[in-house]
Amino acid sequence: MSLAKYHDKVKENDTVILYLGYDNMHAIKIKKGSVFQTRYGALRHNDIIGTTYGSRVHCPKGYLYILYPTPELWTSNLPHRTQILYTTDISVVSFQLDLKPGAVVVESGTGSASLSHSIIRSILPDGHLYTFEFHKERAQKAEEEFKDHGLSDYVTVTHKDVCQFGFDLEDVADAVFLDLPVPWDAIPSAKKALKKQGGRICSFSPCIEQVQKSCACFAELGFEEISTKECLVRNFDVRTINLPNPEFFSRDKTKSQPQKKGSRFDRDDMDAYSEETAENSAQCDIVESSDTKENTTSEVLDTPAWDYIGRKTAANFSFKAGISLGRMPGHTGYLTFATLYPL
Ligand SMILES: C[S@@+](CC[C@H](N)C(=O)[O-])C[C@H]1O[C@@H](n2cnc3c(N)ncnc32)[C@H](O)[C@@H]1O
Repeated sequence: MSLAKYHDKVKENDTVILYLGYDNMHAIKIKKGSVFQTRYGALRHNDIIGTTYGSRVHCPKGYLYILYPTPELWTSNLPHRTQILYTTDISVVSFQLDLKPGAVVVESGTGSASLSHSIIRSILPDGHLYTFEFHKERAQKAEEEFKDHGLSDYVTVTHKDVCQFGFDLEDVADAVFLDLPVPWDAIPSAKKALKKQGGRICSFSPCIEQVQKSCACFAELGFEEISTKECLVRNFDVRTINLPNPEFFSRDKTKSQPQKKGSRFDRDDMDAYSEETAENSAQCDIVESSDTKENTTSEVLDTPAWDYIGRKTAANFSFKAGISLGRMPGHTGYLTFATLYPL
């Protein structure tokens, strides 16, 4: 198989993505006679061979989809040998480094080759990626994966400590990407690797102290337009909110409610009223996520809510709202970009 080209039907040795949900996917390599266990039961590889990519496949207790791998799907499902770059940072890197067909890119370290797959896709069909990794097994594994994914013609993997020995490349690269603990040791050699006509460089670092040192090094070596970015994703979930129509004063005389004394509410009554309603209204807000279950209008209206004095009522006002999730993926690292102009 090749991530550089597309074919229609699943073949033996293809790497496929099993899609059970947006947060439940697996990358597997198809082998005749093998079985993969999913949460919907066993999936026999023989049953997938010959099916069309994108089609639905049934397991004993449910179904899933077979997808052709893309760099984005690979990033979400690859075996982690290191920390990796995720699609949010990758998209900014690709744009800021001006990656396009025919570009030559130098990268270190290769790590789990998450970013490498996206770089290769951007520079196809006649660009080239030179990627450097000083951990021998990681370099070998990345090379195997590139071969497996039909990308070997577009990438050269070198096992090397670039901080100590440099890239040994001169005047070849349109862009350089560094994901190293001490990037400033590799920046002089990265500058040499860039084409004489100039180019862009990016260094990814998790700590601001690393960023400061890299910026100082870029400035000293004549790089310009030095800027650091942090990219964070905010996900929103679509929820159905059920509320009763506001009714601030109950007509039910048996229920506790603030009593008017003259023209003012009695303070103690008011406090008791607020506590009761606060407790009850906390129960009526968000009744379900539309991600997990489709609402019908009647289901929504049948869902009980509590009115403002604590009576259980049928919800009579509902709407959909985007709610930002309580837990969000946070800081991964800072991306520092710089430009080298021709002398
Ligand atoms: C965080 S990982 C890179 C992840 C990669 N960007 C990805 O998206 O999968 C950093 C890698 O740099 C490698 N590395 C660290 N220092 C190095 C050096 N001096 N020369 C080459 N590789 C180095 C490490 O072995 C590690 O695999």
